[in-house]
Amino acid sequence: MSPQYGAASPTLFGFLQSIEPLIHREIRNSNKSSSLPVIVVRVTDEQHLLMRYNSPRKLCFLAEGLIRVVAKYYGETVELSHDKCLHRGDICCELNVIKPAA
Ligand code: HEM
Repeated sequence: MSPQYGAASPTLFGFLQSIEPLIHREIRNSNKSSSLPVIVVRVTDEQHLLMRYNSPRKLCFLAEGLIRVVAKYYGETVELSHDKCLHRGDICCELNVIKPAA
């Protein structure tokens, strides 16, 4: 819904990689009262992306929903696995975004 951000990334993985360095960081810098999660993204190959999520709010399930909706926006079918989770005592959540082989 924010065309200035969507236009920055023509692909789903590119967009997910841009959240922290472009989007959340800009919001954090311009609005000191905002409370944003720390998100670290690593693309391991064309089909696998790992998102590490950390926030005292523990809104990892919101993050999952956002990823699913963004994937739909890009017309991609993805599987998500949520292997580590703050709610289970892990130090961060790990969300694996997997594009099934065609
Ligand atoms: C898949 C993409 C995204 C994910 C996974 C994500 C994740 C999240 C999560 C989980 C939160 C809740 C706060 C927390 O956990 O501490 C949050 C907050 C927020 N995000 Fe994102 N986000 C995404 C994309 C975006 C985009 C595209 C924008 C703006 C165009 C954005 C702007 C914000 C804002 C304004 C907040 C609230 C800050 C506050 O409460 O003060 N996010 N994000």
